[in-house]
Amino acid sequence: MDNSSGNNYVGEFAVEASGLSKHYGDVVALDGLELSVPTGTVLGLLGPNGAGKTTAVSILTTLIAPDGGTARVAGVDVIKEPQRVRSLIGLSGQYAAVDEHLTATENLEMIGCLYGMRRPAARKKASELIERFRLSDSAHRPLKTFSGGMRRRIDLAGALLADPPVLFLDEPTTGLDPRSRGELWDVIRERVEAGTTVVLTTQYLEEADQLAHDIVVIDHGRAIARGTSQELKRRIGGEHLDIHLALLTDISRVEAIVRPFAIGAIRTDDQEVLVSIPVSKGIEALGSVMAELSVQNIEIVDIGLRRPTLDDVFMELTGHKTQEEQT
Ligand SMILES: Nc1ncnc2c1ncn2[C@@H]1O[C@H](COP(=O)(O)OP(=O)(O)OP(=O)(O)O)[C@@H](O)[C@H]1O
Ligand SMILES: [Mg+2]
Repeated sequence: MDNSSGNNYVGEFAVEASGLSKHYGDVVALDGLELSVPTGTVLGLLGPNGAGKTTAVSILTTLIAPDGGTARVAGVDVIKEPQRVRSLIGLSGQYAAVDEHLTATENLEMIGCLYGMRRPAARKKASELIERFRLSDSAHRPLKTFSGGMRRRIDLAGALLADPPVLFLDEPTTGLDPRSRGELWDVIRERVEAGTTVVLTTQYLEEADQLAHDIVVIDHGRAIARGTSQELKRRIGGEHLDIHLALLTDISRVEAIVRPFAIGAIRTDDQEVLVSIPVSKGIEALGSVMAELSVQNIEIVDIGLRRPTLDDVFMELTGHKTQEEQT
């Protein structure tokens, strides 16, 4: 029996994966990944470049087979019944999957037909989504004339078209302008309210903060932390002292000054000319550091205490920033 009602899956977990592993030659892309996503919630998959996020999404969406482990999506085994899984999911990939020569409307209609929708229904849904994503003016142009952000929006519309019970969105808003990003967040929220389950990978921690009920941080193909955004932030605790400097060349001197106060990793950012440290007695550290900066004649642009962000959590857990290349 099909464990679904209308377009919604009604089992407890819409995605369940256990011990997923995948190797590419010597590269271990996934190393025993465990995931479970309660139905009707959003799971945020966070991890640095090369962590295994796309590999995990590709396995769960039946694009590649794992070397080991099991996974069920909407109650269906991804290895034994890939065809059935495909009819129950929507996928928006990191690299947009669109036909360059077809128009936006034609691309979406084709996707609708692949899901077994009747053409008039697919056409109606396509035009609704095209309007929603503000692409009406370009609906009848071939996609090869589209900008990167326009393509991305068509790819997302394709994932949403058949209103599948489970959505996999691999970096859905990379390359979107802030307005388009906000609009997509609204669409996702609406779908989740209506019962859809979403697995989302993102490099934007704010996006995970905004949308995800639960977050799994992966690194080297394994889950290294999970929890709500609040729980993860609480885990690293304390406050952060942020010091914005006038001169990049002062960064290493400031690092030496703050080191005795740091209760965790010191983060420096050359672009922002920033030194950020987790501290326990915030006010005390602030006073002492300011005094020492003044003694050493180091010019500061801004200094302040703040609560930890998901960025800090990520840095603490993985030892690198989200956007940084792994070596
Ligand atoms: N087709 C492939 N052939 C060889 N190696 C691969 C292949 N696909 C992925 N890998 C390797 O597997 C590891 C995980 O890659 P994956 O694309 O899953 O990472 P990711 O977390 O999605 O990274 P990003 O944030 O850059 O998208 C990387 O080391 C990558 O080089
Ligand atoms: Mg990826």
